[in-house]
Amino acid sequence: MASAATDIRISPLAPGLPFGAAIAGLTRDHLDDAAMRRRLGDLWIEHGVLLFRGGESSQAMHLELSRCFGELEPHPFPESRQAGAPDLVKIKFYPEDGSYYDIDGDLRGGWLPWHSDLIYTHRINHGGILRPVQLPQIGGETGFIDQIAAYDRLPESLRERIESLHVVYHVDVDMSLQAFVDQGHARLIRMAASGTQIEKRKFTYPRVIHPMVYTQAETGRKVLNVSPAFALGIYEDGTAAGDALLREVIAICTDPALAYVHAWQPDDMVLWDNWRTLHSARGVPIDQTRVMERTTIRGDYALGRPLGLEGPVADFDV
Ligand SMILES: [Fe+2]
Repeated sequence: MASAATDIRISPLAPGLPFGAAIAGLTRDHLDDAAMRRRLGDLWIEHGVLLFRGGESSQAMHLELSRCFGELEPHPFPESRQAGAPDLVKIKFYPEDGSYYDIDGDLRGGWLPWHSDLIYTHRINHGGILRPVQLPQIGGETGFIDQIAAYDRLPESLRERIESLHVVYHVDVDMSLQAFVDQGHARLIRMAASGTQIEKRKFTYPRVIHPMVYTQAETGRKVLNVSPAFALGIYEDGTAAGDALLREVIAICTDPALAYVHAWQPDDMVLWDNWRTLHSARGVPIDQTRVMERTTIRGDYALGRPLGLEGPVADFDV
């Protein structure tokens, strides 16, 4: 059992950052302690992003730690599930397979712009933990932006305009087709084999809507709930004015001044609250290999809704 002598050490994730904490010294023994599991859960809700560094790190620890925050679920895309390990999503780029983009002349493999995971489903997961399996020699950072801090930055007039609005989302794994992503001019050069299969099915998936603002249940704090990737527009206003409003909000929720960019070390694990942070993958030079594993922590904030379907709705695909 964990004892006071082997307690975890908690520090800010980065100086001046309005979110995030780093936790050192966590071992599997700690996870047997119900009080420790509750403490970790409270830290997750309070800080939004937790970096576990300088503790135990393994696939078994990754899975066990993830289960402290909720039940795990398989990814809705069979292509994203790992054979023999249904609770792990493999996020990978190899020089011979993986999507890559030309972004203003810079070739980047495994690039993903700012997004919330599973926002293209009506029931988005509460969080996930990422763990490196094979890190590239260069690049491969992961960015996070807190959307409670982003909401706090919104001018009052903008808060009033978006308070009761929703955004429509739909699956598309080609990030060069995302109308509301504003991170340079991206051209798709090669689609991953797995992505090609998902793209073929994309119109079989329903469009969904999520509110632009919601309130974190545990704390009463308001969250700006907008993912630039996968967004099609504002549900209540599909006009050019609605699109302009959405772009105005996205400029604030992806403000680089609010971002934390994580440079991975081999034994790191990072947990984030997918209901209050956006994340992004910087990508790697295309001669590099990067392999990460991610868990998906199930949850339902019960505010998402599929469009065009009546009555009880089956899960997205699982
Ligand atoms: Fe993601």
